[in-house]
Amino acid sequence: MLENPKRYTITAALPYTNGPIHIGHLAGVYVPSDIYARYLRLQGKDVAFMCGSDEHGVAISMKAKKEGITPQEVIDKYDGIIRKSFLDFGISFDNYSRTSSKIHHDTAQEFFRKLYDNNDFIEEVTEQLYDAKADQFLADRFVTGTCPKCENPEAYGDQCERCGSTLNATDLINPKSTITGDTPILKSTKHWFLPLDRYQDFLQKWILQDHAKDWKTNVLGQVKSWLDDGLKPRAVTRDLDWGIDVPVDGAEGKKLYVWFDAPIGYISATKEWAAREGKNWEDYWKKDDTKLVHFIGKDNIVFHCIIFPAMLKAEGSFILPDNVPANEFLNLEGNKLSTSKNWAVWLHEYLQDFPDKQDSLRYALTSNAPETKDNDFTWKDFQARNNNELASIFGNFINRVVVLTNKYYEGIVPAPNEFSDVDNQTLAELKAYPAVISSSIERYRFREAQGEMMNVARLGNKYLADEEPWKMVKTDPARVQTQMYVALQIAAALQILCEPFLPFTSNKLSKILNLDKLSWSSVSETSELLKPGHKIGQAEILFSQIEDIEIQKQIDKLEATKAANKAENAVIEPQKEASTFDDFSKLDLRVGTIIEAEKMPKANKLLVLKVDTGIDVRTIVSGIAEHFSPEEVVGKRVTVLVNLAPRALRGVESQGMILMTNLPDGKLVFVNPDGDGVQNGALIS
Ligand code: MF3
Ligand code: ZN
Repeated sequence: MLENPKRYTITAALPYTNGPIHIGHLAGVYVPSDIYARYLRLQGKDVAFMCGSDEHGVAISMKAKKEGITPQEVIDKYDGIIRKSFLDFGISFDNYSRTSSKIHHDTAQEFFRKLYDNNDFIEEVTEQLYDAKADQFLADRFVTGTCPKCENPEAYGDQCERCGSTLNATDLINPKSTITGDTPILKSTKHWFLPLDRYQDFLQKWILQDHAKDWKTNVLGQVKSWLDDGLKPRAVTRDLDWGIDVPVDGAEGKKLYVWFDAPIGYISATKEWAAREGKNWEDYWKKDDTKLVHFIGKDNIVFHCIIFPAMLKAEGSFILPDNVPANEFLNLEGNKLSTSKNWAVWLHEYLQDFPDKQDSLRYALTSNAPETKDNDFTWKDFQARNNNELASIFGNFINRVVVLTNKYYEGIVPAPNEFSDVDNQTLAELKAYPAVISSSIERYRFREAQGEMMNVARLGNKYLADEEPWKMVKTDPARVQTQMYVALQIAAALQILCEPFLPFTSNKLSKILNLDKLSWSSVSETSELLKPGHKIGQAEILFSQIEDIEIQKQIDKLEATKAANKAENAVIEPQKEASTFDDFSKLDLRVGTIIEAEKMPKANKLLVLKVDTGIDVRTIVSGIAEHFSPEEVVGKRVTVLVNLAPRALRGVESQGMILMTNLPDGKLVFVNPDGDGVQNGALIS
């Protein structure tokens, strides 16, 4: 771990622009990286916080095919949506760039060229999967098949999402093209491979020895299993038509592999920013006193801990990451978040329903951050965090302090009199908090850090509750001045200490207290954040309560998604063998009405029905008792096959059959005539 770095380069995984972003992205990558960057800025550090849209790769081409638009249209659309979500949630990137930009194409090509000129690649003609019908080579997400490691039948050509292994398309068992569904053939083509095996020893030492103490165990575990398997050369070019051209002779029509170009996006984003800000980008990537930290989700570990470092090492002039604090995954109400199944809370939709509650979501996601294991987001937990923690503790404390100060002193901070032991203790405790929170943040334990920040609010809440200034304001006004002075110092400290976690709240507090942003260290260094005589502003609600009905609406929305997914996945039976018109016309189908119904004794499934068929009233035994009570079916219009040969069921003769169908969830429903005035006995033909 680099001690006392001179500057920080912080990166957050570039999101694919093939869809909007959801709470899982926020919880896993963007909120933690934002907390870290904001915290460092409050410390006065030199920070470059970089991100951007990842706009190449097969995921984009597939989305374009599916929507019938061009890849360019796909990336423009989602880059816009994603960019706005980040802004809306206060993710404070110093630059949010795009990998479709010219500066990135140039930077990635230059990087490739340098490795090529250094002879860092192996050039090889190999057999690759090819879809003859689509006239296209298949790699990455264009091909699925069975994972050779865990037998997941839905592994992709670059990665198995079940066991996390990274694959080559040709490793898949029973590969299938996702374009045509055909089984691909093998066809030879030339590609450039990064010989990862050459970096095996270096990576082993750099990560598993040098960083054994400071990297997260989930990250070390994945790296170890990779290294134990033995690293193999990996193709960094593709036969595709969307991406960055491979900049060497003999590579016409070939593109860089998206995982080759994307991480270089961190560098291009820094270049773009430095040019704008009049800084030197190389300071942030090539100086040993710069601390580079990659924030990612666990599915990106191999790319950031093995492949990109190998690329940087091969290039030779770059620094390597000091840490890669990857998070595990966030689930939603017990199920894996999924873009394709629409099982997600989309950020842009969240803001429509909770337009001023960015901090509540940031808070709930950090409280539940999947730092060491997968975690679950539930709407009920979200509500409880907002109501019982943010509103009842933090909001309540600030509100009391501000309202009382306005009421007793017209908003002017009073001068304290003699401090009691409790006052001294409280102020001393307050001064100790910045170091406690810092220590957690610097070890990437953001949920612990946020918990400590809330303890500051608890300290204030408890102080006021114990001291009860409102009880002695008449009898001992001198004491109340001191109490309010102490409480105001805690409020001012909160304005700073909450900023990394709750930036919108911090801004509001700044306005309420009429206090500019102070530095992190001022809380422990100055004994007076708010001076006597300073005038504060009016109280404002920081966190309103979230009502049950608002939460129910979200839960209902997820239920509807579940139902829609079920319907979509319901098996549609294949068409039966052909039947002649004569076959069909032999069936006598009539409209009828059920006029009586009772349970068949000692049979769980059967109802005995009396049906008015228009021709007669007859008995039909129907196997619907597990779906309907007798009362429910009386009066129902139904379709009856009246000339089915009678048969006895449990001694009762059934004279026909009622037509039924299933809903996707298995529930039975009657097939009934739609149309007023259809009479019993009407023939269906
Ligand atoms: N787009 C990738 C994903 O969403 C992440 C790319 S990170 C980068 O999984 F390093 F390549 F930029
Ligand atoms: Zn697998």
